[in-house]
Amino acid sequence: PMAPVNCFSVIDSTNQYLFERVNQLSAGESCLAECQTAGRGRRGKPWVSPFGCQLILSMYWRLEQGMAAAMGLSLAVGVAVVEALESLGYPGVELKWPNDLYYQGRKLAGILVEMSGSAGASCHLVIGIGLNLAMPSQQGEKIDQAWSELRQVQPELVDRNQLAACVLLHLQEAMQTFEQSGLASFVESWNRLDYFAGQPVKLLMGEQVIRGIARGIDDRGALRLETDEGVKLYLGGEISLRRG
Ligand code: BTN
Repeated sequence: PMAPVNCFSVIDSTNQYLFERVNQLSAGESCLAECQTAGRGRRGKPWVSPFGCQLILSMYWRLEQGMAAAMGLSLAVGVAVVEALESLGYPGVELKWPNDLYYQGRKLAGILVEMSGSAGASCHLVIGIGLNLAMPSQQGEKIDQAWSELRQVQPELVDRNQLAACVLLHLQEAMQTFEQSGLASFVESWNRLDYFAGQPVKLLMGEQVIRGIARGIDDRGALRLETDEGVKLYLGGEISLRRG
């Protein structure tokens, strides 16, 4: 059976809506809105989400593997969303580690996976996606980095309901696959979609800057960075990746 889809015109945050209700939800239940008044981004940043300009959606899932698997899961989500877009005729969308969607070097969508639970036990997950569709320029000015929008990929946008349904379906399928076989079945696709593949990058970890050539991800979702001392692995957290 299809899990409930909760739709709002205005909401504080679709992630927050599901997070407040984790104990009453079934896996796959989702929340969509036209606009958020307190949209959340990664690393504690706000997410600009003006009325009707984005696909704003969140999905609830329970992860039996526990929190340790969540890093890999967020990478699988990126693959699922890009593949949903490809299936609708939007080619050329790529992934920037860990899970931003990029188009022509600018951010098209962001993914925020939030979780709760205790170590070792199953945990609650809320998967949030904000995808720019057509942003008026005054709204775009509020975004603190180079961004793009789906109408640049393909000027004739598909129906928004169709887009939402397609993304939800791909997400649900991806979560089922992830439950059965973890990130392993997504690694090849992730590496095919890697925006930085083979490029010189720098990793910012607090005060530390590490330079190397991006060599995709391993099957835990760690970034593989080729440095002077060979290929090194970096796992999630407060790391950010830049060109150069
Ligand atoms: C990022 O910083 O790149 C992640 C942005 C995630 C935004 C989405 S919009 C739907 C969901 N609800 C939120 O409050 N945040 C996520």
